[in-house]
Amino acid sequence: MEFNVKSGYPEKQRTECIVAAVFESRRLSSTAERLDKASGGYISNILRKGDLDGKFRQILLLYNVPNILSERVLLIGCGLEKKFDNNKFRGIVNKIVNALNNIGVMEAVCFITECKVIGRDLFWKIQQAVLSSHEASYNFDTYKSNKNLNRFTIRRIIFTVETRRDLNVAEDALIQGIGLAKGIKYAKDLGNTPANICNPTYLANEASTLAKKYSNININILEKKDMQALGMGALLSVTQGSNQPPKLITLETNGVDIDNSPVVLVGKGITFDTGGNSMKSPEHMVGMKYDMCGAAAVLGVFLFICEMKLPIKLVGIIAAAENIPGGNASRPDDVITSLSGTTIEIINTDAEGRLVLCDALSYSEKFKPEVVIDIATLTGACVVALGRHYTGLYSNNSLLAHELVLAGNCIDDKCWQMPLSVEYQKELNSNFADVSNVGGSEAGSITAACFLSKFAKKYNWAHLDIAGTACRYSGRDKSATGRPVSLIAQFLINRYQNLI
Ligand code: BES
Ligand code: MN
Ligand code: ZN
Repeated sequence: MEFNVKSGYPEKQRTECIVAAVFESRRLSSTAERLDKASGGYISNILRKGDLDGKFRQILLLYNVPNILSERVLLIGCGLEKKFDNNKFRGIVNKIVNALNNIGVMEAVCFITECKVIGRDLFWKIQQAVLSSHEASYNFDTYKSNKNLNRFTIRRIIFTVETRRDLNVAEDALIQGIGLAKGIKYAKDLGNTPANICNPTYLANEASTLAKKYSNININILEKKDMQALGMGALLSVTQGSNQPPKLITLETNGVDIDNSPVVLVGKGITFDTGGNSMKSPEHMVGMKYDMCGAAAVLGVFLFICEMKLPIKLVGIIAAAENIPGGNASRPDDVITSLSGTTIEIINTDAEGRLVLCDALSYSEKFKPEVVIDIATLTGACVVALGRHYTGLYSNNSLLAHELVLAGNCIDDKCWQMPLSVEYQKELNSNFADVSNVGGSEAGSITAACFLSKFAKKYNWAHLDIAGTACRYSGRDKSATGRPVSLIAQFLINRYQNLI
């Protein structure tokens, strides 16, 4: 899909369709008002008949409106003008794009960005309009025989700004939105690809392809034998049962000498999580192809950074493995030695994410990081605690936590800080090793984060538990969401603002 921005009068737009807002009850937006005047009251006459009163997501399509150059006018109800907020704005863009696809138009000029959105500026509106349009037209049909069933017709959407002076800001927002949409789509596609195809080797190949495409990415892949030589006993214990070789993938942006301590992103890349010997029940196992969404987000962020040519020193570490039973699989009661030297008693082989992550976190130290952020579909307990709206955030540094919360609120990819206090640490005591890999039945998301914190003492660290936010796998719109690509992108943009 293509996007443009421009300023201009609605009645003069020679296009297939223009889109204008109507608020409750029958309050015309300034564009609708202009169209009404130009057409000699044609629109207000129709509204008076009761065909549209401006309720949220109501639509009315008009043809041949007098004195209007556009073939069609799509009026969209936006609810009460005073209550038009960020969520409503995104919902409306989604509705518009769906409507345009149903009508079958290829191009539209959309005046929705003129509407005031509580607490948001023009940059936000344009950027989110791009992201929501992509979201509305996302469809993963790689493995469908008939790809035409869900083809979208809309090719180009032109968002308008009120004056020419707004064009610069709008262009910047457009470019950033388009870059972000690419990163998000990439993360979604990887997440949606089934585990019989998207295995650790596939992730490594994807990362290599990215590194070939963008000359400013260096890549390094550790194979099983390298992990053995280093002593990554925790990561290796997870992959033991699988025929798929594990990969520890490191991406690094190069040629940026502004600062040699990087932000390190660590992604959980369990390409399928059966639970291993502590096997999941069938209903809990479906959707476990999404257990690599942390890894997908890391790749999505790299794609964004490279597309935008942002001079940011970034390292991405992906711990890719499959958690599946087999003759060699690890057992509950096993004691293993992690890269850090800490011994771990495996109580539950389904708590594998923290095992691959702890070695990746120790490995991160060699990059002398400014900050390490791990991204993981780590616990079902996080979904119980926060549902599907907020990502769980844990950090050993309150400023870093604050930065992430702000970034999330700013771009609407929100996270909520959870406690990491010492009281929970004792849940992880073990009789036979330095630490156990699970806590008790309570506060499962917190005890998982406590486990990770033991391996992240040497730097400022944050952990994002995206179990609830990375995907939706019930209902009709099953899909990866691409979260938290936006959150991380915004975090990096805010942090390196002066360089961009
Ligand atoms: N990948 C799962 C977490 C998960 C659950 C993600 C549901 C998305 C949706 C993780 O590896 C896991 O199995 N966690 C266990 C931990 C438990 C054994 C302590 C869980 O949450 O049940
Ligand atoms: Mn698991
Ligand atoms: Zn898992």
